[in-house]
Amino acid sequence: MAPHPIGIFDSGLGGLRVLDRLMHTLPDEHFVYLGDTLHMPYGQKTQAEVEQYVEDCLHWLFTVHQVKMVVVACNTAASVAAHVFERESAQRQPAVPFVDPVTPICRWLKTDARYSHVGLMATPATVASHRYPKLLTDLQADVRLTQLACGNLATVIEEGGGNTAACAELLAGFTGILSAQQVEAVILGCTHYPYVMDQIAALMPEAEILDPAVFMALEAKRLLAETALANPQSTGRDVASVDYFVTAAPDQFYETSRRMPFQALAMKQPTVVSIARTPSVEPFSVQ
Ligand code: DGL
Repeated sequence: MAPHPIGIFDSGLGGLRVLDRLMHTLPDEHFVYLGDTLHMPYGQKTQAEVEQYVEDCLHWLFTVHQVKMVVVACNTAASVAAHVFERESAQRQPAVPFVDPVTPICRWLKTDARYSHVGLMATPATVASHRYPKLLTDLQADVRLTQLACGNLATVIEEGGGNTAACAELLAGFTGILSAQQVEAVILGCTHYPYVMDQIAALMPEAEILDPAVFMALEAKRLLAETALANPQSTGRDVASVDYFVTAAPDQFYETSRRMPFQALAMKQPTVVSIARTPSVEPFSVQ
């Protein structure tokens, strides 16, 4: 499996930030990026809907690209459908490891960080799942978490980038709420929010801004080494290669992505794919 690609998916272009970190951290790997733009925003969908989207994305990555590892960039997918990842990953032969945004940063908050009160900006679905606070409790992390559901902020960023009046107005409101709570740090618990990290930092100079992507890339590297799945061939590249796929609106994805601060150099036109699941397909297995 070691020469196989790594699959990464998100509901839209937010995962490009995570991909950017992965491409620099793992330059000898090849990535398959899937943006499920047909169903974006996940953050305002029901649990059953998100579970179905996750199953379809995983199935497509496993069967069409035979990925050796999955990085679920999307906080909403990882929070609402954590059990789907665990089940689908374990059903593969061999089991496919996956990296999610929530676990690595929560472990870091437990072991290395020194914050007593942290804020979480996330989609309504991520907040409703209580995935972050539950994991911190399971880890017995000595940190208080204040969650804030940020409405349609992700959609506003996906559709118009981060420099619109609508985005600025939303950010002023959300950061004002967290500032009033006197949090020491803020987790950007949605893949789209790092695109407006500078604005958030300017509005909350008193708090550290924490991006889960940083911790995810390190976790992916660690997992590849642990499972002996790193590509044994040295490519001599500085950054990994990638192919882009979306389920709808490729032009909007491409144009908005090119205006974003990450991935501008490596951005290519995405290919549109249909990932609707065919229930009769047998599970994929690699020798
Ligand atoms: N990518 C999603 C996340 O990280 C946010 C966008 C959406 O609602 O689909 O939570």
